[in-house]
Amino acid sequence: MSSLKEREAWATRIGLILSMAGNAVGLGNFWRFPRLLAANGGGAFMIPYFIALLLLGIPLMWVEWATGRLGGKYGHGTLGPMFYIMARESVKPRKALIFAVIGGMIAFSVTTLLNSYYIHVIGWTAAYSIYSATGAYYGVDTVNFFFDHIKNFQMVMVTWLIPMILLFIAAFRGVSKGIEAFNKVMMPLLYVFAVVLAIRSITIGSPIRPDWSSFAGLNYIWKPDFEALSKNFWVISLAAAGKIFFTLSLGMGIIQNYASYVRKGDDIALSALTTASLNEFAEVILGGSIAIPIAYAYLGPDVVRSGSLGLAFMALPNVFTSMGEVGRFFGTIWFLLLFFAGWTSAIAMYNYLTALLEEDLKINRKIGAVIVFLIYLMLGLPVALDPTLTYFAELDNWVGSYLLVVLGLFDVIVAVWLFKPNNLWKELHEGALIKVPTFFKYVLMTLTPLYIIILLIGTTIDYY
Ligand code: PHE
Repeated sequence: MSSLKEREAWATRIGLILSMAGNAVGLGNFWRFPRLLAANGGGAFMIPYFIALLLLGIPLMWVEWATGRLGGKYGHGTLGPMFYIMARESVKPRKALIFAVIGGMIAFSVTTLLNSYYIHVIGWTAAYSIYSATGAYYGVDTVNFFFDHIKNFQMVMVTWLIPMILLFIAAFRGVSKGIEAFNKVMMPLLYVFAVVLAIRSITIGSPIRPDWSSFAGLNYIWKPDFEALSKNFWVISLAAAGKIFFTLSLGMGIIQNYASYVRKGDDIALSALTTASLNEFAEVILGGSIAIPIAYAYLGPDVVRSGSLGLAFMALPNVFTSMGEVGRFFGTIWFLLLFFAGWTSAIAMYNYLTALLEEDLKINRKIGAVIVFLIYLMLGLPVALDPTLTYFAELDNWVGSYLLVVLGLFDVIVAVWLFKPNNLWKELHEGALIKVPTFFKYVLMTLTPLYIIILLIGTTIDYY
């Protein structure tokens, strides 16, 4: 029985944390966060963002780590089986089975749909790394340059297929040990580079108008804007909640999958919190200080407010250009690091999907890897074929905001209804290096589900 099989485990604690951070820190932090912030009124977005972090993100991070490690005990590491496990550990097997099937199917669809555009953005980083090396965007209008890039079908296809094929090879051969070693080097490098870039960005003055300085950009983000929030309350609140799930890799079962390789007696309470903090630092402090301030200074507030999907790619080349020739080197490395950051998130999703096929449907991992590749190819093509990015934006809205929040509800059902909060708390504290305040247990039982349900109802009514 697979449940008795000895599972692989993370080699070291630091390796585990950096791999979890590698899973969470991705293009969401440096590409999607600035865009959403910009599109949703800057300081208006930050308010529901922090509320969602506190009420949804942190508590559900603990839920996914705890249920994930528990799942690993039974030789299962994905969302579907998680429900069977809950049923075994507690009572209600029939209910657990229903949720396993529905939850598993939504999770599989959401993950594949998310990748249908996410891997394209990884492709954009590959292209921009090449453009930096060749100096292609030097001396041109960077907004038009971006649009020209996505209209360049050949370049888009080639740079999309590169990460796709690399993902396939890694998943097909199963290189989990390699991922841990890779993340240990890549993650610290990414942080160091991002800090340097953030400092450069926030000290940059506008070459166009003095009042468009990067400080004005920071002000746009950090000045709470209740008025803008109240005008578009549901849309902004849902986008912010979805962003928390997106950035922490929550909802789909991916954290559970990684956590299932944690050894039984090892700490999860502190590790989960550390990972979340590392990710939030990369997102809010670093991700927030790079693209928007630069875009503000070089492209102006109107471009920022348009919240284009390409905002980060329109903004960043300006910083590198401002550094002269060294900027070409910096740009090449930065986009390459982003490429790897996106790739380590994508491999977490890819491995998870093959694990889901293997553990739930008993499909051999290699065949599973081929199936996932073909689905990605099929779903990703329409994105490449629409250079207006309309379909992309629509998809990102539904998947990244709405569906991830729906999946979050499944986490709550597992933790509160099937597994029971007291069991969860016990599991969470086994081998724990910190004691999680009981306050969070009550949040999980009340405010977390309530907030999700209100958001879903509110946005649905608002939509019609
Ligand atoms: N968290 C990753 C990011 O911010 C994306 C991701 C989402 C990865 C869901 C895994 C699961 O880019």
